[in-house]
Amino acid sequence: MSKSIFRKKSVSKILADVASGFSDSEHPGTASHLQKALTTKDLTLMGIAAVVGAGIFSTIGEASFNGGPGVTLLFVLTAITCGFSAMCYAEFASRIPVAGSAYTYAYASFGELIAWIIGWDLLMEYAIGNIAVAISWSEYFVNLLEGFHIHLPAWVTLDYFSAFKAHEQIQQLTASGHTADITERLRHAAEAWSTAPGSGNFRLIANIPALLIVIIITYLVYIGIRETKKATNAMVYLKIAVVLAVIVIGFFYVTPANWHPFLPNGFGGVMKGVSGVFFAYIGFDAISTTAEECQNPQRDLPKGMIYSLVICTILYILIALVLTGMVNYKDLQVGDPLAFVFSKVGLKNISYVISVSAVIATASVLLIFQLGQPRIWMSMSRDGLLPKAFSRIHPKFHTPSFATIVTGFVVAVPALFLNLTEVTNLTSIGTLFAFVLVCGGVLLLPREAAVKGKFHLPYINSQFIVPVMFIIGVFFGRHWIANLFEGEALHHKFPYFLFLILSFTLTVFAFIKKLSLIPVLGLLSCFYLMAELEYESWIRFLAWLIIGLVIYFSYGYKHSVLGKQKSETAFSDKKE
Ligand code: ALA
Repeated sequence: MSKSIFRKKSVSKILADVASGFSDSEHPGTASHLQKALTTKDLTLMGIAAVVGAGIFSTIGEASFNGGPGVTLLFVLTAITCGFSAMCYAEFASRIPVAGSAYTYAYASFGELIAWIIGWDLLMEYAIGNIAVAISWSEYFVNLLEGFHIHLPAWVTLDYFSAFKAHEQIQQLTASGHTADITERLRHAAEAWSTAPGSGNFRLIANIPALLIVIIITYLVYIGIRETKKATNAMVYLKIAVVLAVIVIGFFYVTPANWHPFLPNGFGGVMKGVSGVFFAYIGFDAISTTAEECQNPQRDLPKGMIYSLVICTILYILIALVLTGMVNYKDLQVGDPLAFVFSKVGLKNISYVISVSAVIATASVLLIFQLGQPRIWMSMSRDGLLPKAFSRIHPKFHTPSFATIVTGFVVAVPALFLNLTEVTNLTSIGTLFAFVLVCGGVLLLPREAAVKGKFHLPYINSQFIVPVMFIIGVFFGRHWIANLFEGEALHHKFPYFLFLILSFTLTVFAFIKKLSLIPVLGLLSCFYLMAELEYESWIRFLAWLIIGLVIYFSYGYKHSVLGKQKSETAFSDKKE
């Protein structure tokens, strides 16, 4: 019996467990296998469904406002980072084709504690990310209803704190005579405060459309993978058509003068958009949670992830160019930038079509994430780290029923009350951390020869390439590094210091151990994007991890299936 918190679950054991169907003696009558329905095409469409959503329809606005046309560079940089991570996910998916995504991969490579941490962290990507998407969906939906002259009371359309803050801000602006700075958005939020039932600071303000969409999506996910697949495919075709139309029509309205200057606020301005732009790419990894529902996961999952990432990258770069070419970047600080630019150039009808498609696009993101979260919980529960109910599979629908319902609650209730920016930042940092563990995990896997029909990550020796890159980076970044030590609040720069220390350490290891280049570049680029996120996000993220550790030590560690097993002679821990 292994007492170590780093006890590992060998790849062979993970595969054997799935093959045996996790016979569930505690829940007789439940099904043991998920339905194998997904092909490469479905997976690619699901990837696109998860990626193209609130990010490109919404957070790109703020990022373009800060970075100017140069935000395109950030889309390229982020795509490269995601590309390295996608290849590492693909390697894992082909070696461990079971549900659970990065959680399962971490269990095999780093052991139980890190697996728990990643499972807990993925909650941030899926559930918290979905809170962000539900809030964004609600905003577009309310705008759409306005287009049909249906006006919902403001207090049922947003969260308490946004309304409270807007109310205070308007009072301050009015008192200081800056009424011209009161935007329409601010006025709407303050209206929620003044018209809400209740009095004083006790007012009933909640985002009801966000709640309703989560309930509908949870229901769809509950009733089955085939239904989910059909709904996803339909939504994705529509979404791609609209995005292409935006690019093609928008192209004719581009004024090249808007692309000058390309970097109005320097590289620093561009990097302010990291969280929003990275958020736009999140999702291609989510399809790895459906491994047990794929017809041929070892071949199709890697393809699905990589194809969807490539397609989205091309679309995003073109959209960023069109957007910043159609209007001046300074006009783009809006919540609905794609619709906004078309109405700005006089194409109101197209702007309206975009709002409709944004509602559909964000709903399909919700669907995929709502599908992914229960499957991660299911894997954690099979390993004993969560109660058994989380791995119960519905006898008729063949879906993880209890976990799906819990996910619905975990997303729907906070969506009533939370604010968009904060949840977006948390999602981005949590997902980058997951990517870091996946790239790092690949480095710990034993090298395997390529097998026909299975994805294989090419090995390129990093021994000299990475040190040379490090030296070039330090040379060109020497002024930036020197500046880090100047000014006050040095602790706010700790993510940068951490990045420098980790890069140096990784470079040394790359040199000594001849590590595989792609995961090393994945790690370096993820560390860098994480370092660019705000200090506050880091603190919240660390607090989240600490809560997770408390839960692990008070429940998971004691109930772990691996911890209870006498010995693993057939599936040696050491072997992996
Ligand atoms: N990439 C997803 C979106 O933008 C999370 O909505």
